[in-house]
Amino acid sequence: MKKFLFSDAVLAWFEHHGRKNLPWQHPISAYRVYISEIMLQQTQVATVIPYFQRFMEKFPSIDALSQAPLDHVLHLWTGLGYYARARNLHKTAKIIVEKYKSVFPTTRSKLETLPGVGRSTAAAICALAFNQPEAILDGNVKRVLARFHGVSGAPGKKTESILWPLAYSHLPKIKMREYTQAMMDLGATLCVRSDPQCGCCPLKENCVGYQSGEPTRYPGAKPTKKMPVREVKLLVLVDEDKHILLQKRPALGIWGGLWSLPEFQVSDFSDICFQKFNCVFKKKKKLTSFRHTFTHFHLDIFPIQFHVIRNKMCVMEDENFIWYNPLRPVSIGLPKPICKILSWVK
Ligand code: ADE
Repeated sequence: MKKFLFSDAVLAWFEHHGRKNLPWQHPISAYRVYISEIMLQQTQVATVIPYFQRFMEKFPSIDALSQAPLDHVLHLWTGLGYYARARNLHKTAKIIVEKYKSVFPTTRSKLETLPGVGRSTAAAICALAFNQPEAILDGNVKRVLARFHGVSGAPGKKTESILWPLAYSHLPKIKMREYTQAMMDLGATLCVRSDPQCGCCPLKENCVGYQSGEPTRYPGAKPTKKMPVREVKLLVLVDEDKHILLQKRPALGIWGGLWSLPEFQVSDFSDICFQKFNCVFKKKKKLTSFRHTFTHFHLDIFPIQFHVIRNKMCVMEDENFIWYNPLRPVSIGLPKPICKILSWVK
């Protein structure tokens, strides 16, 4: 009987079942692979595809991206979440242009020095763009390897230190690009978190998880921790032309660099507040409150709408504020919950 070889089984499966028509695969370039890999961190392929296509139309090259205002980059990221990715992308584009003369470095160690590029993302770029023998270990691949080898620890540094050498041990001698894509696809389509499709898996005969009858025991479950809840009151100032006051968020912290609604404390409420924005109060309206969940906490959002009359003779001198016209949107980054509130202002 022929000896089982992990990478042969994975490559044979890829030939019939792997994803070969993703937009970043045609054509392949380091820039396109890099952008797709950053977008695919914490986000599923189906969500990423339209964002990737819009991004490539607007920023077809690393030079175009490096020259763009950050607001335009954040604008195309609106709705994808984890906006630090977009800020790092913009920083990285400038580094590639200035330090590497617009040519992506081709080694994992150099790629890992770029902001927002960790070991697995750097390895994915090496394998997918340059066909180099580098092992990846994203969430999907961790699950495949943990099940195959019966690694029962919860995801974390200790489990990773077991999985990295295993990931290297399976690398094929050829077809690194196909093998890497295949590992991602196996994890995303068959070896899914709950209800894995083991019957169709090319690795099942040798998979500890499958043979145990309980593949979902691997990897172990992360201990659940209770997420803290924060509250914020958001000011929706609407003038007679239905323009809405937006404020740019500080560069650091949640929604850094994005445009949002001003936060306020109930105690702020006096005419002084309206004077600051050259407005006279007309009418108040309570809007529906809702919860938005970040990775580490819940944010309960309480928006309150105030219709105002604006003194347009006075110009706003603070460039961190704009009166936004929803009928003529500009290229700025807006968090999804803020888009939702803006859509309520009729
Ligand atoms: N997740 C991360 N990178 C991916 C890729 N290239 N294809 C599909 N899913 C991915």
